[in-house]
Amino acid sequence: MERFGSLSRRGFLLGAGAIATIGASAHGQGHAMRRIAPNRASDAFDPDVDLELICKPAETPILTGKPTRVWRYAGNLIKGPAHALTATPESYLGPQLRFSKGQKVRIRLRNELPEETITHWHGLHVPMLMDGHPAAAIDPGETYVYEFDIRNRAGMYFYHPHTHEKTATQVYRGLAGAIIVEDEEERALGLPSGEFEIPLVIQDRSFDDDNQLAYGGDMHTSMFGFYGDRLLVNGRRNLTLDVASRPYRLRILNASNARIYKLCWDDRTPLNVIGVDGGLLEKAETRPYVMLAPAERVDLIVDFSGRPQGAKLTMMSGEFYGLIPPMAQRMMGSDVPMGEEFPLFAATVTRSLVEPWKPPEKLSTIRRFRKEDIANPDNPIPIAITMAHMAMLLNGRPYDHDDIEPRERIPVDTTQLIEIFHERGGMGMGMGMGGMGGMGGGMMRGRMGGMGRGMGRGMGMMGMMSMAHPIHLHGQQFEIIERGFEGDEDAYATIREGFIDSGLKDTVLVAPGERLRIVKQFGDFKGRFMYHCHNLEHEDAGMMREFSVE
Ligand code: C2O
Ligand code: CU
Ligand code: CU
Repeated sequence: MERFGSLSRRGFLLGAGAIATIGASAHGQGHAMRRIAPNRASDAFDPDVDLELICKPAETPILTGKPTRVWRYAGNLIKGPAHALTATPESYLGPQLRFSKGQKVRIRLRNELPEETITHWHGLHVPMLMDGHPAAAIDPGETYVYEFDIRNRAGMYFYHPHTHEKTATQVYRGLAGAIIVEDEEERALGLPSGEFEIPLVIQDRSFDDDNQLAYGGDMHTSMFGFYGDRLLVNGRRNLTLDVASRPYRLRILNASNARIYKLCWDDRTPLNVIGVDGGLLEKAETRPYVMLAPAERVDLIVDFSGRPQGAKLTMMSGEFYGLIPPMAQRMMGSDVPMGEEFPLFAATVTRSLVEPWKPPEKLSTIRRFRKEDIANPDNPIPIAITMAHMAMLLNGRPYDHDDIEPRERIPVDTTQLIEIFHERGGMGMGMGMGGMGGMGGGMMRGRMGGMGRGMGRGMGMMGMMSMAHPIHLHGQQFEIIERGFEGDEDAYATIREGFIDSGLKDTVLVAPGERLRIVKQFGDFKGRFMYHCHNLEHEDAGMMREFSVE
């Protein structure tokens, strides 16, 4: 199944030097990576859903005037229920895929791009060869056939490229789509469905004077991630939903490369949260706002009942600070700095419809891990995040498919305790060693207190020198069992009520000063499964590692 060879370095796409990454300069280019041959359709697999996704260049109207050149997924349903694939002609986003738990799904991914690519089904629990591993990237003209069973519970998942050092630019150019999984448990609840269930994909982009996508691509982009000037929802500017005066289900995915949102309604109506990455919560939670980092999902019930025709509710990203160094914001020069308040989309009540409905008290059952289930209760596997000048690392090492540490070897069908923390929040930019740089190692063993306290609005050591990282683990969703914080309390107060830790997650935001403990099962499939920062520029720069499940 495997062929060997070195990855050819293809030219940069978004302008000269646009995607030179820190990772590339830090750990060398042209590094040999084992390649997996394109998987073929198997006769033994009898799919319930069979579809084709073609990655190709296209043009789409986004701003007024000239259309924008993008890359997109175009889809065809070959077999299966019509709702398995819903085209999104009004946007560059890929078709919405809708599966049911237990279905057998075949997806034929065809590459019509000018460079290699591979697609990952974010959040789906599938074998390694079906997971979109970068070593399985296909060349232009090739097809990779995925065949897998839907084992996940109902929830919103996400497909996007996972190409070695090209994930950020390929997603940026438009390659992304939503996957909805349904199951019996959820159907029994009678949640708003059909036109009353609305998936919303949030992204930010920048455009040049010709309406074409612009991507920073400089050192600052590599270091802090890309932050665009225009907010797009479902690929559109100023999206306004026409709604009836009844309850709706809004399913929101942050498919931005790096931007973190603080979702809140403009009139401060609290958010009614029913689910996150891995599906429904056990019980709804009411929050003033929800933090949504790249790749995270949130499932909301919004009740427009009783609102008069013409009433308008706007989803904002509210103010916060402390998740990115203020100096970084200035250097990057986005018109819309992360943490500033801006609108995302709106809903206008255009017709009245009386449908008294409340979400049921109990939404789902989540099987909680018990201490006895955990293989390593006293010896957590570390995920130490290092962000330093020229080095984006996890556990002190950059991504390398051939480098698996002893701690990264995990026996299949075990449940592991994992601890995620900032090894070194410092940028190492001259002041690194004297400041946060000194916090590597010893400091992190529980003595972070004090450093950032009382140093004012986001300007403490922590605020000035470290940033938040959305950490994602492939495979099964995990449970967050502890979220500890020591750092700038004032900054933290602007975000702390926005974490929904009661559900199953596959991506979790680790804010500066936070230390998290999660419990995750590594069931069913042996092989290499990635874990990485879902700030896509960080991922491409090497803030990614693999677990070898064996
Ligand atoms: Cu959504 Cu490994 O990624
Ligand atoms: Cu993933
Ligand atoms: Cu990161």
